[in-house]
Amino acid sequence: GMPDAVRIYEVGPRDGLQAEKQLVATDVKLEFIRRLLAAGLRTIELTSFVSPKWVPQLADAADVVAGVDLDSARHPVLVANERGLDRALASGVREIAVFASATESFAKNNLNRSVDEALTMFEPVVRRSRDAGVAVRGYISMCFGDPWEGPVALAKVVHVAERLIDMGATSLSLGDTIGVGTPGHVLALVERLEAAGIPRGVLAMHFHDTYGQALANVHAALTAGITEFDASAGGIGGCPYAQSATGNLATEDLVWMLTGLGYHTGVNLEQLVEASVWMAKHLRRPSPSRVVRAMAST
Ligand code: HMG
Ligand code: MG
Repeated sequence: GMPDAVRIYEVGPRDGLQAEKQLVATDVKLEFIRRLLAAGLRTIELTSFVSPKWVPQLADAADVVAGVDLDSARHPVLVANERGLDRALASGVREIAVFASATESFAKNNLNRSVDEALTMFEPVVRRSRDAGVAVRGYISMCFGDPWEGPVALAKVVHVAERLIDMGATSLSLGDTIGVGTPGHVLALVERLEAAGIPRGVLAMHFHDTYGQALANVHAALTAGITEFDASAGGIGGCPYAQSATGNLATEDLVWMLTGLGYHTGVNLEQLVEASVWMAKHLRRPSPSRVVRAMAST
């Protein structure tokens, strides 16, 4: 049945800004994060400690973390390798996320590794994090479809999920990186993971809205008892290493639906819309979120 409470995992400052062609100034990122906090979001992924050659947009990761009160909310960051973990731990963060791929094509394009080589790279990252009392989320990208390989077999997702849980990941976020998933596929994946011994309680869902399916997929996941959903304020974002990965599910769209279903998200929707409109001005294009557009024009 439907869960009693759900958690919104805001990825705007990270997933939202990592693919922007123009570099966004650190001060603008910090003001965006402050506005997201003020709007009531309590889990905000801040940035990525990855190679600045690969993601120059987030080369200022240490400055972003230094500018945020880490006690104000949960503030995870992305980490791909031990070098990134060293930088993340030095910044004082208490939560990280590694990011695996269900497909070989995306593992190669995003991490310059095979699926299993990438998992091997994550092993010491996860071990050292857990030893330091740092929680580790394991993202799995391309769980529903891949731009190079097409449909993705459930077994590939299960393989990566098992490896991440075995190495010590505390939660998993199932990514529909290119937004091709549909509700029946979501339910099938949750059931298949559960059959493999991975309980629903450790799962989060990360939908991109490329094909307009994100909210339908969230609703399906809710009926399956999933309690954590990733979203980006204003629906900004995408992955620079996945063609056709457009914006994430907009946090405003998610909040609108959850509120209608009777959930108390703790988010002030008017304030969140204002934050997204403010950010859209800096990015010089309107928010793709339907709720932002509807509320900003009234
Ligand atoms: P590589 O080129 O194989 O490795 O990249 P390398 O060790 O040769 O590193 C390349 C250069 O980067 C070297 O510099 C390293 O020192 C440096 P050089 O020697 O040439 O001067 N370097 C670093 N510098 C700072 N911090 C570090 C670091 N690591 C290396 N941590 C690597 C391998 C993993 C580093 C690279 O592929 C990488 O950084 N990839 C990150 C890609 C990324 O961030 N993608 C977006 C996030 S995933 C996503 O968006 C999906 C998600 O939203 C879910 C979904 O939607 O599905 C999570
Ligand atoms: Mg993403």
